[in-house]
Amino acid sequence: MIVNLADYRRQAQRALPTFVFDYVDGGADDERTLMNNRAAFDRWQFVAPMLKDASVRSLAVQLGDTALAAPFLIAPTGYNGMLRYRADQMLAQAAEHAGITYIQSTVSTAALEEIPCSRTGARWFQLYVLKDRQVTVDLLRRVKEMGCTNLVVSVDAVHFGNRERDKRHYRKPMKLSLASYLNVARHPGWVLRTLVPGGMPGFGNLKPYLPPQYRRGVGGATYFAQQMDDSLNWQTLAWIRSLWQGALYVKGILTVEDAKAALALGADGLMLSNHGGRQLDGSVCPLTVLPEIRRACGSTARILIDSGIRRGTDVVKALALGANAVLVGRPMLYAVAAEGEAGVAQAITLLTQEIDRTLAQLGCCSLAELGPHLLCRCEN
Ligand SMILES: Cc1cc2nc3c(=O)[nH]c(=O)nc-3n(C[C@H](O)[C@H](O)[C@H](O)COP(=O)(O)O)c2cc1C
Repeated sequence: MIVNLADYRRQAQRALPTFVFDYVDGGADDERTLMNNRAAFDRWQFVAPMLKDASVRSLAVQLGDTALAAPFLIAPTGYNGMLRYRADQMLAQAAEHAGITYIQSTVSTAALEEIPCSRTGARWFQLYVLKDRQVTVDLLRRVKEMGCTNLVVSVDAVHFGNRERDKRHYRKPMKLSLASYLNVARHPGWVLRTLVPGGMPGFGNLKPYLPPQYRRGVGGATYFAQQMDDSLNWQTLAWIRSLWQGALYVKGILTVEDAKAALALGADGLMLSNHGGRQLDGSVCPLTVLPEIRRACGSTARILIDSGIRRGTDVVKALALGANAVLVGRPMLYAVAAEGEAGVAQAITLLTQEIDRTLAQLGCCSLAELGPHLLCRCEN
């Protein structure tokens, strides 16, 4: 029975071979950041005023050209085709029907052209910058052609995190261990849902750029790992800003200095993120730095956060501490793995109901009424 997002995690764990579940669920090194991302939310507790009429409520929020029915977006995640055939399309469709937004990753399984343009909302794309600048130029051309108006440049995955839970399933890079193959054999449902309809998933957006030797199987992953531009810097970001006329968000910011620099360079918004604990282990949690970054950047800066959001109360805490909206990563992936598009739709509904209930219990009719006065920081 599904009553909250954690139930989808349990269901996904049953539905997926362990190597796929660990790819999604795992973090870097000792997974301290992964754990702390949750603890950061527990450190804040609500101080709820009573006897306030909050019988009529709205969760709507506007981010530039994007109207959201509830204050969250589905975070960009790569290689979703491992969870289920057409998982990217399912995430996008469920988001569209719920009036929220799905951010498509550079390394999504579906190509940009395989996801229908949004009928109601604005479309978002997340960019990883590759060494071959012509690839970035061409990707941006396709992004624009496909009607995307919001670009998210991720800057925190230039050097890949050390994901040990992931590594243990491989005898060498991209070659599963015998134990993992046996484990796959114990998940025939996953094979039927994922591999039988479409074969081994690839990287739809990168296909046109893959040299012949990388076109088979998961060769795209090898190409991508080699092509990630590890010299990425502020000049590169300025170059992207000059190429892209739409709204630009920088994802992976965690310091006041970087936040100010990104805005000074012309970014329209920031995404405070530690990549869900998948990159630098021991990294600070976005929620912890959110209040000082909001103070430093002023009330008009557009600031989103992610990493560790699992409950409506988490979303409300982030908004009360200064976020305009949040991104939700893994829970939506567990939901699509467990129940496909219907699962994502249900996960969005559950989270929306939790946000709405929290708002009501805090005596607030709208998100604009949220603020730090509704929280106290406790160390226990
Ligand atoms: C399986 C997986 C794949 C991801 N792929 C990407 C990606 O392609 N681009 C990106 O910017 N972030 C990626 N992320 C990070 C998410 O966008 C987001 O920052 C993170 O999942 C938020 O943390 P949460 O999962 O705890 O909600 C990925 C995360 C996961 C779990």
